[in-house]
Order: sequence, then structure tokens, then C-alpha cells
Amino acid sequence: MSYIIAVAGKGGGGKTSLTVLLIKELLRRKQGPVLAVDADPNANLGEVLGVEAKTTIGSICDQALGSMSQVPQGMSNGEFLEYHIQSAVIEAGGFDLLSMGRPEGAGCYCYVNNLVRKLVDKLIKNYPLVVLDNEAGLEHLSRRTTRQADLLLLISDSSLRGLKAVSRVVELVKELKLDIRDYGLIVNRSIGELSPRFMDHVDEQGLKLWGIVPHDDTIARLDAEGIPLMRLPAEAPAAQVVSRLADKLLLEKSEAHS
Ligand SMILES: Nc1ncnc2c1ncn2[C@@H]1O[C@H](COP(=O)(O)OP(=O)(O)OP(=O)(O)O)[C@@H](O)[C@H]1O
Ligand SMILES: [Mg+2]
Repeated sequence: MSYIIAVAGKGGGGKTSLTVLLIKELLRRKQGPVLAVDADPNANLGEVLGVEAKTTIGSICDQALGSMSQVPQGMSNGEFLEYHIQSAVIEAGGFDLLSMGRPEGAGCYCYVNNLVRKLVDKLIKNYPLVVLDNEAGLEHLSRRTTRQADLLLLISDSSLRGLKAVSRVVELVKELKLDIRDYGLIVNRSIGELSPRFMDHVDEQGLKLWGIVPHDDTIARLDAEGIPLMRLPAEAPAAQVVSRLADKLLLEKSEAHS
């Protein structure tokens, strides 16, 4: 059974960085194979993982519209698309990467969209752990990827603005009627104590604070040099916190599946 973790929150808050650090930690604990899903049209998860993405589900969808007439004999449209979706998966050391691309191609229509979502859902179910890196909105969760997640990790910085962005994500989840089993708030790039007003807002919103990841100069340095965060040393302060987050997450996973 797969355990699906979706990562969402404020733009630039550190969703992609934390997605990568979490995957790194899960692999270190031999929790693979993990499927990493880049559900941000401005795809950069591959870059931070150190893997080059080939094609995206968005472009497969666009191509499918033009090539449905070329479906080989004896193959259904679904099988044809499934083959192409499978070929978009990149296999890396211990994890696979799937890039969703743009959520809506110029001419993509409901039939293909629905079929793609079903097929991506089917693919996801082959992995015990799936981590979805989202854009600030949740476009893909409603259209092309699964509408369901076991855990939604909400990433904010330590500003009230960040927290408000997280609250909007929670609203969006309700509006879109997504099926999310549990939520966890992670404050990233923290440089000190969280303000009392921030904490009040956390309580008012009924958010569970899962962890506080400090601002980590090593992350900034690796990023500045274009070095994948998979190479962040285990002793880096952010990596240490992510390790504790992974403990919590694996506990949740085992409870969810028991
Ligand atoms: N804990 C941290 N310490 C220092 N820098 C960090 C930390 N987390 C993230 N960053 C930096 O913040 C920037 C934004 O991070 P990232 O791309 O992960 O955010 P994002 O939420 O995925 O952004 P987007 O909304 O554009 O997808 C990057 O330059 C990254 O290196
Ligand atoms: Mg990102």
C-alpha cells in the first residue's frame, strides 16, 4: 500500500528543498523505492535531486491528442497512454522521478485528462512511498495527480504572511474536496523563536507544528553553486531536523497502515 506525502505552502518557502531532504533521509533509512513527483509546472525537483527530467506528463498529454489515431492495432487508448506515462518515469538510485509539467495543455480535453489521472494514480500505487512537490497552488492535486494524500506537509517561513499562505492551502483543499488524511506544519528557514502572534495563529488554525527547520547556510551555498541538495551533509543543521521529521513521518505511516 502506498503512503502519499504531498508538500505544499508558500511560494519560495522551501517546498522543493524539504521534499529532496526528506527523500534523501527516507532512502538513507532504506525506505525506498520512493516515487518523487514534481507537480510544479516550473519543474525543478529533478535539478535539486540531481536527476535530469526527460519528458513531462503535460507534454505526453498534448502529444496524445495528436497521436491517438496512431494507436497500434490491438492496443487500447489507455494502454497506449500508459506506455508513454511509464516511459516518462526516470529511474535514479533508490527513487524514481515523474514530472507533471503544465497542468493544462492548449488543447487537452477532459477525456485525456481523466485517463491520465487514473493512469498516474495507478502508477503511484506501485510505490510504498510517494512524495509530491507542489507549486504554491494545488492545481495538479485537483487535475492530473491523485486527489488523495496521507499527509500534507505545509511549509511556511516564520512570517505571518507565510502562515496565511498555508491557511489558504488548507482552504483550497476543502474547496477542492481533496482527501487528505493528516496535516503537518513545518516552519522553514527559521532564524530564532517563533513570535507569539505566529503561534496564536497556528493554534487558531488548528495546525499541528511538526518541526522547525533552521536557516542553513550549507543549503544556500549548495544551491548557489547548483549542487543537488542530495549532497547536503548529514551533520548540516537542516538535515538533522529533517531526520527527526522522518522519524515522525514513519511512525505516522506505520499507524496509518496498521
Ligand atoms: N532551510 C533553509 N536554509 C537556507 N536556505 C533555504 C532553506 N530552505 C530553502 N532554502 C532556499 O530557499 C530558496 C527557495 O527554496 P525552494 O526552491 O525549496 O522553495 P519552494 O517553496 O520550492 O519554491 P517555489 O514556490 O518556487 O517552488 C532556495 O534558494 C533554497 O536554497
Ligand atoms: Mg519548488
